[in-house]
Amino acid sequence: MLIAGTVIADSETAIPDGAVVVEGETIAAVGDAETLREAYPDHERRDLDIVAPGLVGGHVHSVQSLGRGIADDAALLDWLFDAVLPMEAAMDADATRAAAELGYLECLESGTTTVVDHLSVNHAEEAFEAAIETGIRARLGKVLMDRDSPEGLLEDTDAALAESEALIEEYHGAAGGRVRYAVTPRFAVTCSEACLRGCRDLADRHDGVTIHTHASENEDEIAAVEADTGRRNVMWLDEVGLTGPDVTLAHCVHTDEAEREVLAETDTVVTHCPSSNMKLASGIAPVQDYLDRGITVALGNDGPPCNNTLDPFTEMRQASLLGKVAARDATRLPAPTALEMATTNGARAAGFDRLGTLREGQRADVIGITTDRTRATPVHDPLSHLVYAAHGDDVTFTMVDGRIRYDDGDHVGIDADAVR
Ligand code: GUN
Ligand code: FE
Repeated sequence: MLIAGTVIADSETAIPDGAVVVEGETIAAVGDAETLREAYPDHERRDLDIVAPGLVGGHVHSVQSLGRGIADDAALLDWLFDAVLPMEAAMDADATRAAAELGYLECLESGTTTVVDHLSVNHAEEAFEAAIETGIRARLGKVLMDRDSPEGLLEDTDAALAESEALIEEYHGAAGGRVRYAVTPRFAVTCSEACLRGCRDLADRHDGVTIHTHASENEDEIAAVEADTGRRNVMWLDEVGLTGPDVTLAHCVHTDEAEREVLAETDTVVTHCPSSNMKLASGIAPVQDYLDRGITVALGNDGPPCNNTLDPFTEMRQASLLGKVAARDATRLPAPTALEMATTNGARAAGFDRLGTLREGQRADVIGITTDRTRATPVHDPLSHLVYAAHGDDVTFTMVDGRIRYDDGDHVGIDADAVR
């Protein structure tokens, strides 16, 4: 297929009248549309306004998709223990499947082609099946919770680790490698030291399995961890082995100098969730400082009850606006940085190579954006449009691994109305 339009190949390169040639699961060529049409005369053609790399949701909770609006206007620990955990505890296999499918369909139709997904304690296999079925690229993991957790979610440590291992054996590398596993302890508040250390051991024993958890999102959470362990949250995770290049930590809103040094030295990936951090009043993560230290920072929507939308464009925009206002400096967190966070940095959070840019040899995860759906004014700068103007609703084309998954309002091969 030859996909033509203004091609945003990466955060520094826009090709007006460009094209991306896809062969199988891979990008075969990127460049000038006319030249490529001559070079590939027999390829099926598509014309779109803006062609961009598929976006990466570096931290989501698909299983919380059914909880939109159940816990507005509350801070993290009340939000979690009074509403979200009881909802997760009440979910059966069918509800988990429906939540995951709805979440992935919403992601695909709004431009997210890869998710790093924090599932629930129970019925995680339903989300793996939903990822395989909907075609989204996914790094997923069953959640582990072995202390201070409500009934229905609290698990025995060894059983939680054993169940995680069984899921690794069944699903890590599924769908031709499109679906991969992340060991997912919920956070230090609900996980014992044995559980956290066991998560590291489990990941180390399985090639390519990563670790995904929450850290330092909220001051009360940090105080609870400190009361329990005598350590700041990131220092505690480091002590039990949960930092490193294979670890993605969601949030990291409140970190001190020593914690930031550890994040940088260990090459741990941070996922910034600006909308969630604003809505739960968690605080403003020091994103620019992390980036200045060379820490990889991805972007995430977090779950629908703490954000109410899975739109990745909103997240890019919020990250940029929050970065500017936090620094009182309009030059900070510019559009190219926001796009990098949602693409190449997200690819690191998700642990996939050849992802995040439109270049020859990359995996063919491509989205198409319509620029005139609700706006009549000209687009002077396509990258600016992507970050500061576009919405998920403007996405009209989504391809993952060379397969079209969403096309002009329809999910290809899936009866989305039946799911809804
Ligand atoms: N910390 C532990 N669990 C959660 C969760 O489900 N959402 C968010 N935002 N933070 C958490
Ligand atoms: Fe989260």
